[in-house]
Amino acid sequence: MGPKISMFNSLCNLILVILVIIVSPTTEATFSSSISKQQVKSNNITHIQFYFHDYVQGPNPTVARIAQAKTSDTSASTFGALVMIDDPLTEGPENNSRIVGHAQGMYGFADQQQYALLMTMNFLFSEGAYNGSTLSVMGRNPVMEQVRELAIVGGSGVFRFATGYAQLKTITMMDTNGATIVEYNVYVSH
Ligand SMILES: *[C@@H]1O[C@H](CO)[C@@H](O)[C@H](O)[C@H]1NC(C)=O
Ligand SMILES: *[C@@H]1O[C@H](CO)[C@@H](O)[C@H](O)[C@H]1NC(C)=O
Ligand SMILES: *[C@@H]1O[C@H](CO)[C@@H](O)[C@H](O)[C@H]1NC(C)=O
Repeated sequence: MGPKISMFNSLCNLILVILVIIVSPTTEATFSSSISKQQVKSNNITHIQFYFHDYVQGPNPTVARIAQAKTSDTSASTFGALVMIDDPLTEGPENNSRIVGHAQGMYGFADQQQYALLMTMNFLFSEGAYNGSTLSVMGRNPVMEQVRELAIVGGSGVFRFATGYAQLKTITMMDTNGATIVEYNVYVSH
């Protein structure tokens, strides 16, 4: 009986080895496989306009200074200060206009000569077909200039594979409610 069992065992081992050899290429194929562009990219270009409300002061600020350099407060351009934001995005410029999303992220004062921000944030939309989808934004924002431009570097949900740009125009800067309101026109290919 002994030899029979051991022969059975070696046969099982042989089958196992063959199976492993047959199965492994498939495992590698699932690690990386190519998908046609048509399957994932719709090639839509969407224009979105909204207003960004940055409450620096007032009863309910949406901006928190989280870090700064020893010299930020004496710097003419606040160089070295970093803030975290969770700013409402609205349909119109009025402060009671319908909220369509939030801008969540950070901006830092990144220029030693002038007010110019490094902005890195996500727009999280909360309306209709865009609800729950995000756009990821990064760029340089010289806030005193009439029109600025930031890059759209990616997105999620309906904005998967997003690329594009946003143009920014200040409507009011530090109004009586402590708010800065900026018009955003976003052009995004996704
Ligand atoms: C909106 O603006 C009005 C008029 O200036 C003001 O009374 C009100 O407090 C503002 N609301 C917020 C949330 O700032
Ligand atoms: C957006 O999605 C959230 C979470 O799924 C849901 O609670 C909310 O009602 C939705 N809002 C709209 C306007 O569809
Ligand atoms: C692209 O546009 C078409 C037509 O308006 C729409 O049906 C489709 O859902 C859009 N795709 C995305 C990812 O938004």
